[in-house]
Amino acid sequence: MIGVLDWGIGGVDALVRLSRAVPAQYVYRSDSGFEPYGKVPPDVLAKRLDEVGRELAGRYGIEALVLACNAASAVLPRLTLPFPVLGVIAPGVALVRRAVADGARNIGIIGGEGTIASAAHRAALADLEVAQAARVRIVARPAQALSAHVEAGRLDGPEVDAEVARVARALGEDGPIDALLLACTHYPALSPVFARHFPGVRLLDPVDLLIEDASTRLGGWADGRTESAWIVETSGDPEATQVHAWRAFGVSLGRVRKSGLDLADDPIPARERG
Ligand code: DGL
Repeated sequence: MIGVLDWGIGGVDALVRLSRAVPAQYVYRSDSGFEPYGKVPPDVLAKRLDEVGRELAGRYGIEALVLACNAASAVLPRLTLPFPVLGVIAPGVALVRRAVADGARNIGIIGGEGTIASAAHRAALADLEVAQAARVRIVARPAQALSAHVEAGRLDGPEVDAEVARVARALGEDGPIDALLLACTHYPALSPVFARHFPGVRLLDPVDLLIEDASTRLGGWADGRTESAWIVETSGDPEATQVHAWRAFGVSLGRVRKSGLDLADDPIPARERG
């Protein structure tokens, strides 16, 4: 069993793509009943992720956890979980390197407040800026409000448009960018809005490389399976999770359980337990 965790529905696209690449039993946890991870101080967030990881291990016997969330992945080195934990910072960094190898020189990074404040991407890319003798410019700006819009099913409209316009202005202060790393898994759901405000800019989605990474590191676990199955649960609102995941990513999650319930209160059919 592999766990996939995000603050909300942002990791749903990763869940679907992982389940195609690595056939396995999955449990997806949306922690939308908690503060948006991007707003949570690093020590508090690390404690929360350790707790959720241990709960998923105790309840479902997960043997690996995929943090389909940039804010969570930024504190991955602080976690103390006794099984492999994969995140999306390293895939994002690798994607930027690929874009630079393809000729991109002005890279924008947007994400939640914690993700940007951690400077996790910039630290891992520092050599690029130095080695390329300032020919590569990286500018990072927070766009915290956007994930809550996606989570609430707002994929366009005046509020989303105003926030993306603000972010575009903030990123463009020192000149135009030619590639934009979407360092929040909710943001690909806003790709049409980004395309409007960042014409001609290449959008980089770390999940593309997370799938490669997971195929290498978890592929051996397929265990003869040819098909995946998943259980989805949330600490937030199950119905909103289901409806908004469909709206944002076109994914039909099936039944969404409320997390924290006793199995006896809400039994999972044996075939779903894996
Ligand atoms: N999907 C989460 C991420 O990738 C959202 C967290 C947040 O916006 O607070 O960072």
